[in-house]
Amino acid sequence: GAPVEVDIGKLAPGDMMTVEWRGKPVWILHRTDAMLASLEGNEADLVDPASAHPMQPAYAQNRHRAINPRYLVAVGICTHLGCSPSEKFGAGAASGLGADWPGGFLCPCHGSTFDLAGRVYLHKPAPDNLEVPPHKYLSDTRLIIG
Ligand code: FES
Repeated sequence: GAPVEVDIGKLAPGDMMTVEWRGKPVWILHRTDAMLASLEGNEADLVDPASAHPMQPAYAQNRHRAINPRYLVAVGICTHLGCSPSEKFGAGAASGLGADWPGGFLCPCHGSTFDLAGRVYLHKPAPDNLEVPPHKYLSDTRLIIG
């Protein structure tokens, strides 16, 4: 498939958009300061907090799993059996996931949970963090996926 160019200039902080790349949904989430802060302090609960797994591109091998920490770019397909996780951005009770939930994604099929960097939580069926697709920035507001 051809690379997909995306204008992220109008994506407000806290908002997420989905684009299609090679028939897959790719999420682009504009993370707020609070969302970025949620990525610290949960690392003991994650399978692979630094995304050291070799299938991850080098620029995903960090806490934010990103070239630009402001933006999460991830394939929105659960690494267990391929369902579509849902956004659960509200922390705590607002998410329905309990008081200690810092925000992230929930797979409705078998309950895997992922944080706002697509990092999978321990003791859930999904084995790996969400895939970060190959991508690069053409400018501050233009992203190319693929
Ligand atoms: Fe997502 Fe099974 S497909 S938890």
